[in-house]
Amino acid sequence: MIQVDLKNAQIKDEELLKYQEQVTLIHQKLDANLIHEDEFCGWIDMPLKYERDLNYQAAWQTMNTVASRIQKEVDVLLVIGIGGSYLGARAAVDMVQGFYNKKSPVEVIYAGNTLSSTYTAQLLDYLENKEFAINVISKSGTTTEPAIAFRLFRNLLIKQKKSKEVVKNRIIVTTDSAEGILHDLAKEEGYQTFVIPNDIGGRYSVLTPVGLFPMLVSGIDVEKVLIGAQKAYQECKTDKILVNPAYKYAVSRYHLYQEKNKSIEVLATYELQLQMFCEWWKQLFGESEGKDNKALFPASVVFTTDLHSMGQFIQEGSKIFFETVISVKKPNHDVPIPELEDDEDKINYLTKYSLHDINLKACEATIAAHSGYQLGNVPNIVLQWETMDSEMFGFAAYFFMRACAMSASLLQVNPFNQPGVEVYKKNMFELLGKK
Ligand code: PA5
Repeated sequence: MIQVDLKNAQIKDEELLKYQEQVTLIHQKLDANLIHEDEFCGWIDMPLKYERDLNYQAAWQTMNTVASRIQKEVDVLLVIGIGGSYLGARAAVDMVQGFYNKKSPVEVIYAGNTLSSTYTAQLLDYLENKEFAINVISKSGTTTEPAIAFRLFRNLLIKQKKSKEVVKNRIIVTTDSAEGILHDLAKEEGYQTFVIPNDIGGRYSVLTPVGLFPMLVSGIDVEKVLIGAQKAYQECKTDKILVNPAYKYAVSRYHLYQEKNKSIEVLATYELQLQMFCEWWKQLFGESEGKDNKALFPASVVFTTDLHSMGQFIQEGSKIFFETVISVKKPNHDVPIPELEDDEDKINYLTKYSLHDINLKACEATIAAHSGYQLGNVPNIVLQWETMDSEMFGFAAYFFMRACAMSASLLQVNPFNQPGVEVYKKNMFELLGKK
C-alpha cells in the first residue's frame, strides 16, 4: 500500500544494499525483541495480537461496547493526553474522518496537550452545555499537562451532571495496568479503564487502546485499521532492504544523513487531513532518534499551502535537507471543476480535471522543481500511498514505526527511550516548587 520511489532522490539500489548486513542484524534483534535492554518491542506483532491473544480479544470487545454506548450518549469525546498518548488518535481521526464530516457520530476534540490557558478556557466554555465524555490517556499517569486538564474537565463534568453515576460512565481511563496515580484514581472511582501494555512506549502505542478507542468512538472502521497494520506487518517481515518498504525508506533517509550530509528531513503532504499525521511522524522520529547529538531533524510542510511560504526556501535556500513526499493516489472524496459559459475567471481549461487531478499535477510539478538537477537539487523520496482510508492508516502507522525502529538502530541510539525530555520537566518542577 506504500511504494517507496527513489527516482528523484538520487539513490541507487547498490547504495542501499551496502547496508544490508547491518539491517539484517538489527532486523533479527528487533524480531527477537532484543534491540535494547528496555525491550519495548511489544508493538512489533501488535497487529496480530487482536486475533491471537485472549486478553486483547477481551479488550477489543469491551472497547467496542463502551464506544457504542458513548456514541449514543454524547456529542463530543474529549481526548486528554500529550505526545504519544494523543497524537496517533488525532492523526487517524483527521486523516480518515476529515474536518467537516457530517457522518461522524461524535466530535473528537483534544485537551491536555498544552498549558495554554486561553485554549483551555475556551474549551471549557465550548463544552459547558454540551454532552461530552472524557478519555484521559497517560501511561505514566503523572504527566502534568493531562493531569491538569483532567482535573479541570472532570470538575466541569461533575458540575454539569451532578449525578456521580453519570460522571462515572462518562470517564474512560487509558493507563498502565498496575500502577500510577491515574490507575489508582480510576480504580477508586470505578472508571472504565483500558490498558497500555507494559512493553509498548507512548509513540509506538497508536494500535493499542490509546489510539483505537478514540478511533472507534469517532466512527472509524477500526477492524480495517488493524487489517492495514497486519498487511504492513506481513510486508515488513523480510530483512531485504529492496523488498521491505519500511526498511527501504529507513535506509534511504539514513544514507542521505550519513553520506550526503543532510540534517533535516521535510515530510511533505498535499492533504490538509494529513497535517496531524505529520505531527505524529515528527514525534515518532524526533523522540526516537534525537540522541547523542545525532539524527535528522524531522520537519513537515503541507503543500500546496506551504509552497506559498516554505516553497521558496526549499527551492533556493541552503541545502541542508531532503524531502519525503506523500502522494495519495485515491482521495477519500473528489470534486469536479464546473464549467462556466463565459469563463469569467479564466479557469475553464481546468474542467477536464478533478480537484485531486490538479493536486497530483501540482505534486508532480513540485517534485520536478525541487529535486531537478540545476533546479532545487533537493533529493525527494516519494511515498506513493494508495488511499487515505482506515486500512491505509493502519498500514502507514505500522510502516513508519517499523522504519523508525530500524533507522534509530542504524544510528545506534535507543528508539524507545526519551531521557532528554526530563530536563525541562526537572527545571519546571523546581520553579513550581514541586516536592
Ligand atoms: O512517546 C512517548 O513516550 C511520550 O511522548 C509520551 O507518550 C508522553 O510524554 C506522554 O506520556 P504519558 O503517557 O506517560 O502521559
